[in-house]
Amino acid sequence: MQTPPSGLLEAPLPADYPQPEALVFGQILGPYLVHAHHDGEHWHTPQLSPRAEAPLPMASGGLQYGFSVFEGLKAYRDPQQQIQLFRPRDHARRLANSAQRLAMPVPDEELFLQLCQRAVQVHARYVPPHGRGALYLRPTLFAEEEGLGFRVARRHGLSVAVTPCCDPPQKTIRLWAETELVRAAPGGMGEAKTGGNYAAGILGLQRARARGYDDVVWLDARQHRQLGEAGTMNIFVQIGHELITPPLDGTILPGITRDSLIRLLRAEGMSVLEHDLSLDELVAAQMAGQLGTAFGVGTAARLVQISEIAEAGRSIGFSDTGLAARAYTALKQVQEGSSHALREWRV
Ligand code: COI
Repeated sequence: MQTPPSGLLEAPLPADYPQPEALVFGQILGPYLVHAHHDGEHWHTPQLSPRAEAPLPMASGGLQYGFSVFEGLKAYRDPQQQIQLFRPRDHARRLANSAQRLAMPVPDEELFLQLCQRAVQVHARYVPPHGRGALYLRPTLFAEEEGLGFRVARRHGLSVAVTPCCDPPQKTIRLWAETELVRAAPGGMGEAKTGGNYAAGILGLQRARARGYDDVVWLDARQHRQLGEAGTMNIFVQIGHELITPPLDGTILPGITRDSLIRLLRAEGMSVLEHDLSLDELVAAQMAGQLGTAFGVGTAARLVQISEIAEAGRSIGFSDTGLAARAYTALKQVQEGSSHALREWRV
C-alpha cells in the first residue's frame, strides 16, 4: 500500500481542529481515503488517496441505481490509549451479506480489516483520547463503472472514509409512529445496509419533525402496527422484567450494537427477547403499569432513550427505570476497553 502522498505515515491535524467534545458526528472528515478496486475478477492492492480528489462517476451504477452498500464501525482508544476497532469482523460479515443482496462482489474479511486498519493508522491523530469519543469508519462498496444500462456492474470500489466524533450525548427523544410510509417490506432490502433504505426513511423523518417529534418509529409494511426500527436505530422496549426487540425477519438491520447489547444484558441475567411487538401491546402494557423504558441503539448514536411514541390520537409514554443508563454504560465500557469483558470484540 502507498504511503500518503505527502510521504507522511500519519495525517497531521489541521490547526483549527476542535476539542474532542466538539467533534460533531460526520462534520469533520479525515483527509484520506483507503480504496480497493475490483475489476470483475480480482481485488487490487489497496491505495491511499486524498479524499478531496476522489472522482464521482456520474453515470455509475452506484450513483444511478443505488448499487452501494456500506458499514459504520468505530475505533476507540482503550485506557492505555491503544487504538482498537470494535467488532470489525462482524461488520465485514454484514457488509458481505449486504453485498450479496445487491449482487455485488463480496470483499473477504481480511481485505476489509486491512482497509479499516490502514484508514485508522493514517488518521491515528484523529482518534479522540480514551473515553472522549471515537473515530467512525465508513467503508462503502459501490459500482463505479460508467454506463446507464441496468445490469450487474463489472467494476466496483471499496473505500473507507473516516470522521472523528465525540462521545454520543445521553439524551431522550420522542418518536412519531409512521402509518403511511414504509421503510422496509418482507422480501425487500431492509436488512441490507444500503443507501436506498436510508433514502426511503428521510421523508418520514421530515414528517415526524414537522409534527414536533425528534424522529420516526417505522412499522411493518402490511398492518402498520408492529414496531420496526426507531429512525436509523434498532429499538428496544422494556415490559415488566423483559426487554424486547423486533426479530431479524429480513426487514430489520442486524445492528452490531443491537447484538452487543443483547449479549451483554443476557450475560447479566436479563431476559432479552427477540419477538414482534405492536403499538397495541405497548398500550396494553402501559395500562397494566408494565411499560418500562425504551431506547434505540446504533453505532453512531450508541443508545438514545425514548420517552414517547405517538400516533394520531394516542400517545405512549415510557418511564425511566434506569435500564437505559445501565445499558449505555455497559456498551461504553466494552467498546472503549475499560471493561475486560468480551476482549475478543476489540481488534
Ligand atoms: C450508524 O449508526 O452506523 C449508521 O450507519 C446510521 C447513520 C444514520 C449514521
